[in-house]
Amino acid sequence: MQVDCYGRRFRIDRKEGPLVVFLFRNLLEVKLLSKFIELMNSQQVAIVTGGGQGLGQAICRRLAEAGAHVAVVDRNAETARATVHELERLTGRPALAVHADVTVEDEVAAMVAQTVAAWGRIDLLVANAGVVISGSVTELDSAGFRRVIDVNLTGYFLCAKHVVPIMKAQRHGVIIQINSISGMRGSFGNGAYCASKAAGIGLTQSLALELAEHGIRVNAICPGHLLDSPLWVNSLYKQYAARFQITEEEVRRRYIDAVPLRRPCTYEDVCNALMFLASDRADYMTGLAINVNGGQEMR
Ligand SMILES: NC(=O)c1ccc[n+]([C@@H]2O[C@H](COP(=O)([O-])OP(=O)(O)OC[C@H]3O[C@@H](n4cnc5c(N)ncnc54)[C@H](O)[C@@H]3O)[C@@H](O)[C@H]2O)c1
Repeated sequence: MQVDCYGRRFRIDRKEGPLVVFLFRNLLEVKLLSKFIELMNSQQVAIVTGGGQGLGQAICRRLAEAGAHVAVVDRNAETARATVHELERLTGRPALAVHADVTVEDEVAAMVAQTVAAWGRIDLLVANAGVVISGSVTELDSAGFRRVIDVNLTGYFLCAKHVVPIMKAQRHGVIIQINSISGMRGSFGNGAYCASKAAGIGLTQSLALELAEHGIRVNAICPGHLLDSPLWVNSLYKQYAARFQITEEEVRRRYIDAVPLRRPCTYEDVCNALMFLASDRADYMTGLAINVNGGQEMR
């Protein structure tokens, strides 16, 4: 028998056959193992805006646990630092706390420069920072409306604008915007937030078109209601209870009843989708707004 191995031809007699098969199999296993280790060690660099609390913090944790270097960006310096300490305790590797407001272009540029200075590249941008100021069309003042658009939409644009030159130079990158179920349809008494998120899907698709030829994928994730998040616990239950003239417990029940899968969205649900979209397994997916909402879009 003759076999080709790394471009060379070997003669093997019958007795040596099983030994050669055994060696080949093990060689293959060693190669696969080293590929796996290489992937684990490739240490992707991620920026997560609004990483100081809530969903952003959970995303930072999940990425760091998967081996990524994480820049935790927040306008609240204290919570960004606290998140970084937690990541470092969890993984034993350094993370980066960046104090920046995503609506201030100089601060966004500095955030990108700091990340590149620390790790030399940016593989993933998670545009997560967001605010909710609810109110009907007659209640909400123009300053409130502008603030919501500024953080949720302009902030996303500015982060993409400053990260893209780095990703273009690498010919590789992934951008994921944390959008919302409210980006997909109207939301009663919540026009500013809804408008900012719907426009975010338009921006996501446009960036995806523009950046595809540079090897950069851009997608949005639209979570359902994260009913145990600080946003709800500290603010939205109270606001909605007052608006609908019901108790906070009834508000929670009303939102769960609207979900076919009958439970709130969790950080883990969102992180599962994010880890997939950020990975090479989603290599053929761009310009999408992915629902993670327990089937709520059907209601
Ligand atoms: N909580 C939900 O039910 C829910 C549902 C769907 C989508 N989302 C989206 O998920 C994202 C995170 O929401 P969350 O519930 O964790 O909110 P959160 O209020 O708990 O956390 C938001 C974080 O962003 C930071 N931030 C706000 N404005 C910023 C700015 N201008 N620059 C930098 N950082 C800023 C805050 O300091 C905070 O740490 C938002 O985009 C939100 O729209 C939330």
